[in-house]
Amino acid sequence: MARASKVVAETLQALKQAVRPGITTEDLDRIAEEHIRSRGGIPAFKGYRSYPKTLCASVNDQVVHGIPSSRRMLMEGDIIGLDLGAIVEGFYGDAAMTVPVGSISPKVAELLRVTEEALYKGIEQARVGNRLSDISHAVQQHAEAAGFSVVTDFVGHGIGRQLHEEPQVPNYGKPGQGPRLQVGMVLAIEPMVNMGQSGVRVLDDQWTAVTKDGSLSAHFEHTIAIQAEGPARILTKL
Ligand code: MF3
Ligand code: CO
Repeated sequence: MARASKVVAETLQALKQAVRPGITTEDLDRIAEEHIRSRGGIPAFKGYRSYPKTLCASVNDQVVHGIPSSRRMLMEGDIIGLDLGAIVEGFYGDAAMTVPVGSISPKVAELLRVTEEALYKGIEQARVGNRLSDISHAVQQHAEAAGFSVVTDFVGHGIGRQLHEEPQVPNYGKPGQGPRLQVGMVLAIEPMVNMGQSGVRVLDDQWTAVTKDGSLSAHFEHTIAIQAEGPARILTKL
């Protein structure tokens, strides 16, 4: 999983550098697939429940699972969530980040910053002896303290020889609930945070999730491994 996650992290870095006004989400998908395969990985999302692409590219009010398209060209001031998985030697890695296209307003920059911070607040709780919902609670607390809302219709997940394993990792809830965290558990923690209300709906393409109120949404994800002592190891960080 460390190897698969490294491929994911490097690919996200390449995508971040490719993002600019005028590029299409289909272009980004091609870069992602070539990058993963050139490093000996297999795209984890392509073919998963018939998902057609390597990358999930979610622009502005799209929350997650935006399908790359040659008709979606990025414009100055957009934000884009880049979500990617890879398989190496049968093991999965999964990560996401939301990046600006050109310059964005301070309020939108705050949404991105708070969502990434919420992810790290969750990761801080991923320690032996804590319970699963300590992660969830920390994520929700941080996002809501900033006046944003967390999406409850999608969750993080265990990860290993499959993309989605037990347990589900919600981005909300009371602390001190659920299974005790143990050394060796590997989780994909992935807060989705909306600038407006938390409601989402799925478009007719059966994949693209958008905010009901049209507000902007950000998504950050890391695959992390719980260690015997200290903070979790972030496998998808370079
Ligand atoms: N990071 C997302 C998840 O873990 C992406 C899945 S997209 C899919 O659920 F196409 F693979 F479903
Ligand atoms: Co995931």
